[in-house]
Amino acid sequence: IKIGVFFGGQSVEHEVSIISALQAVNNFDRNKYDIIPIYITKGNEFYVGENIGDIEAYKNIPALLKKSQKVILVNENEKLNLIKYPMKKFGSNIYDYIDIAFPIVHGTNVEDGALQGYLKTLRIPFVGCDVMSSASGMDKYVMKAVLKDNDIPVLDCCRSDRRHYQGDTTAFLDKVEALIGYPVIVKPINLGSSVGIRKASDRETLEDALDYAFQFANNVLVEKAIINLREINCSVLGDYEEAIASECEEPISSDEILSYEDKYLSGEKNSGSKGMSSTKRKLPADIPADVKAEIQRLAVKTFQALGCNGVSRIDFMLDVDENKVWVNEINTIPGSLAFYLWEASGVKYKDLLDRMVKLALK
Ligand code: DAL
Ligand code: MG
Repeated sequence: IKIGVFFGGQSVEHEVSIISALQAVNNFDRNKYDIIPIYITKGNEFYVGENIGDIEAYKNIPALLKKSQKVILVNENEKLNLIKYPMKKFGSNIYDYIDIAFPIVHGTNVEDGALQGYLKTLRIPFVGCDVMSSASGMDKYVMKAVLKDNDIPVLDCCRSDRRHYQGDTTAFLDKVEALIGYPVIVKPINLGSSVGIRKASDRETLEDALDYAFQFANNVLVEKAIINLREINCSVLGDYEEAIASECEEPISSDEILSYEDKYLSGEKNSGSKGMSSTKRKLPADIPADVKAEIQRLAVKTFQALGCNGVSRIDFMLDVDENKVWVNEINTIPGSLAFYLWEASGVKYKDLLDRMVKLALK
C-alpha cells in the first residue's frame, strides 16, 4: 500500500508537523507500506520527489530540532531522513502516486478539515477524522456546543468575532463580567499550541488579552480561569464502533499557561518513552484511579461525540479544589500522534500507525 504522508502547511504549527511526520515516517512497517512524504509549504504548494533545495522548512527544521534537543530525542537518522526525501513540486494528480493519504498536520488551514476536504474532493481515502469532526474539533466553540449536548463537562464561555467586538467593545466586556466573572482565560477560537492565550483578572487586562488574541484569530472565546488547575491528557484510538483510551499524562508547565515554548522548545527529557517529548510530563499522571477512569471515559465519549477516527488527544482540566474534570480541547491530529501515550499503554508506534491505516480502510 502506498501511503502519502502529508505534512507542513500554512499553520503556526508548521514546524511541529514536520517533526511529527518525520517520526511517523521512521516508524511505519516498511514490509507493508511504501511511504511517500508529501510536503505542503507555508504558501500551500505541494512537494514530492527529487529536489530538496528550495524548501524553506527544511532549512528551518534543523535549527528547530537543535533548539529542541533537550526535549526531543532526535536521533541522527531523523536528520538524515530529511535529506533522504528530497522533494519536487507537483500538481493535483496526487492519486497517481498514492493509495491512501495520512495527514500529519497541525493547526488551522490543515488539521481543521481543510486538507481533509481537499482529499475528499480528489476521492483519496485518508487516515483520521473526516471533514466535519476535524472542523468541529478545531473550533473550540463548536466543540463545546457538541460536547455540552452530549452531557460532557465543558466550561461555559463567551464568544466574539473581531468586527463585532470592535463595534461594541463595552457590550462584550459587560457580557463577560455578567456571565463569567474574573479571572478569565482568553483564547483564539481555532489555534493549537497555546498560541494567543492570556489570562485576565480585571476589565483592563481583559481588554489587553482580547486585543492580543485578536492578533491571531478573527474569533476568540473567554472562559472562567480555574484557580487551582492541573492539566491531564488522554489519547483515544478507534472509531465510532470501538474506541479505547490510553494512559493519562500530566504536562508540567513552568508558567500558568502552557506556552508554545513549553510545549515544544524548553522542556526536559521525557520520563519513560523515547522519541519526542515536548514538555516536561508525568506519564502516567499521578491521579487517583477514579479520576483516571472518569477522564478515560470522558475521552472516549468526546471522541465519539465528535465522530472522530484514528487517534486523537483530549486535553482535560482538573479543578483541584472542586475535584472536577472538564474537557478543555481535542487535538484530532495530536503532536507526535501521541505515540508516547500509546507506548505507555503497551501499543508500539508501528502498530499504532498500522491500526490507524486499517481504521481508514475499514
Ligand atoms: N496541536 C498540537 C500539535 C498538540 O497539542 O498536540
Ligand atoms: Mg493543543
